[in-house]
Amino acid sequence: MSLRQHKIAVIAGDGIGIEVTAAALNVLKAVEARLGTFRLVFDEFDYGSARYKATGAYAPEGWLDHLATSDAILFGAVGDPDVPDHISLWELILPMRQRFQQYVNVRPSSVLPGIAPHATAAAVAGLNWVFVRENTEGEYSGQGGRTHVGSTLEVATDVAVFTRGGVERCMRYAFEVARSRERKLLTVVTKSNAQRYGLVLWDEVAASVAMDFPDVKWDKMLVDAMTVRMVQKPHSLDTIVATNLHGDILTDLAAALSGSIGIAHSSSLDPTRANPSMFEPVHGAAFDIMGRNIANPVAAMFSAAEMLRWIGEEEAAVLVERAATQSICGGQVTCDLGGKLSTVEVTRVVCQMVERL
Ligand code: NAI
Ligand code: MG
Repeated sequence: MSLRQHKIAVIAGDGIGIEVTAAALNVLKAVEARLGTFRLVFDEFDYGSARYKATGAYAPEGWLDHLATSDAILFGAVGDPDVPDHISLWELILPMRQRFQQYVNVRPSSVLPGIAPHATAAAVAGLNWVFVRENTEGEYSGQGGRTHVGSTLEVATDVAVFTRGGVERCMRYAFEVARSRERKLLTVVTKSNAQRYGLVLWDEVAASVAMDFPDVKWDKMLVDAMTVRMVQKPHSLDTIVATNLHGDILTDLAAALSGSIGIAHSSSLDPTRANPSMFEPVHGAAFDIMGRNIANPVAAMFSAAEMLRWIGEEEAAVLVERAATQSICGGQVTCDLGGKLSTVEVTRVVCQMVERL
């Protein structure tokens, strides 16, 4: 019998992205060996800030065409203390999300068993949310510019672009996620009191898509009040849909409320499957801890598990999730969760569990 084969592009990127991606690859290899039902062919790329500093480009010409041939992309993080953040983001990660029409970014947040005693943050017991973040337009559309640079007349704009089609496809996906979950509850986040065009469109599209989902209960929140509700009434929320910028910010808060940003994973999906989707931790390159072997690798492992699910390897996905969750349950965690293990030690523990489960 020939094995199912999947071609995975791996971009570890920068900083702790390199450390946690190595960890995720080890776990993927462990689950591949354990099950023996599929084969992952890894195509590893050195795209990142080191390459930029050496050659002036984050990636070689034609890189996006090359990546387009993969079944999925496993991404670490991008960012370097020597490179302005807007350059690193716009040279590497945002072009992939846009070119591959990864128009939703799905970010689940839940408090795992065993988290509370170890967490340094105030984990909210029982929290279980899924954020659907619009991922190709809005505030991160890339429209704008600077003129009269350096003079007192200087003008700088970042135009938030909301298209009916772009909002609708994301909204529809969010309603579908809400429908698939037990509570069938969706909260639509905007700032449509102050942003009276794009986000009023957002509200209108939500209302019209809602008509196709009569079984989903939905409500609206302004983003500022949403931060308060997340902290004070976390159990009133289930599935949440937000714009690119709002989703970015709210999911860092969600990660902190669920124990640590080190366990928060995300999937940048093209639900049409015309292009490869990308699986990545929520966190960035974490300059303050890079190179110290203390980064929590679990967000990268959960991202890898979601990738397995997306490419059809559900059994492997569940195995990786169970192994990583059990390491947390058993307190075998890095210092962000109150533990003493290094990145490499947590990885070893999770790989051993994958072999034993
Ligand atoms: P960050 O997410 O890298 O770090 C924020 C804080 O969380 C730091 O104190 C860090 O030590 C901690 N942290 C993050 N991941 C952790 C992990 N796995 N285990 C334990 N602790 C962890 O955000 P920051 O510091 O604002 O950005 C650093 C660089 O990363 C910047 O260049 C930024 O632009 C970039 N960035 C890249 C992202 C991406 O590639 N998707 C996302 C966010 C930021
Ligand atoms: Mg972010």
